[in-house]
Amino acid sequence: MVCSDACGVSGDGNCASWGFSSSRSRRAMRIAVEQKVLNRAVWAMVTLCEKRDPYTAEHQIRVAQLAYAVGKEMGLSEQQNEGMCVMGLVHDIGKITLPGEILNKPGRLSAEEFNFVKSHPRIGHEVLENLEFPWPVAQVVLCHHERLDGSGYPEGLGGEEIILEARILAVADVFDSMVSHRPYRSAHSPEEALEEVVRYRGILYDPEVVNCLCRVIQKYYSACTCW
Ligand SMILES: [Fe+2]
Repeated sequence: MVCSDACGVSGDGNCASWGFSSSRSRRAMRIAVEQKVLNRAVWAMVTLCEKRDPYTAEHQIRVAQLAYAVGKEMGLSEQQNEGMCVMGLVHDIGKITLPGEILNKPGRLSAEEFNFVKSHPRIGHEVLENLEFPWPVAQVVLCHHERLDGSGYPEGLGGEEIILEARILAVADVFDSMVSHRPYRSAHSPEEALEEVVRYRGILYDPEVVNCLCRVIQKYYSACTCW
């Protein structure tokens, strides 16, 4: 098919040379389509988690929001912070393989049950590693229970061996877990949760991340009296 100049497309008039066919716009279109597919894959995982374990699904959404706010406070770029949201939304996806008796156990977990729970970062990594996100989502999910002093799991990584986004996610995760009601304990107040995170600043948790969390929570308090 030959196009007339009236179509407004420069070139030799052949459709094959339209802007839409240039390698640059093809690449842009491919990225847009892939991004849409990835977004849908993320929301499919969120929905699956909601069906299996509503508490974890809600927790992941809150952690995504908090990690985004902390990332912003730390000066992460908008692009990096979009990644923080995705990581928050799926960080506990590996828990969907845990038996209901463990997920919702009203009492303390036995050592064996806790070992089972500790498998969730690896399972999450396995689920996510073949999705080509523009962020290191699978790696961060694998590392979100690592701790600065090497006492975390699954690898016992320490300090900067733990990727920054995982250090942010870890703090947002702990804070939200503490302020949430669980079958085996009642919720801590936000003040108590902050105290706990600050107590382990520089030991378990990245000090800069903790400082940013404090500022984010303080800003939230001063703007809102509903907590
Ligand atoms: Fe987790």
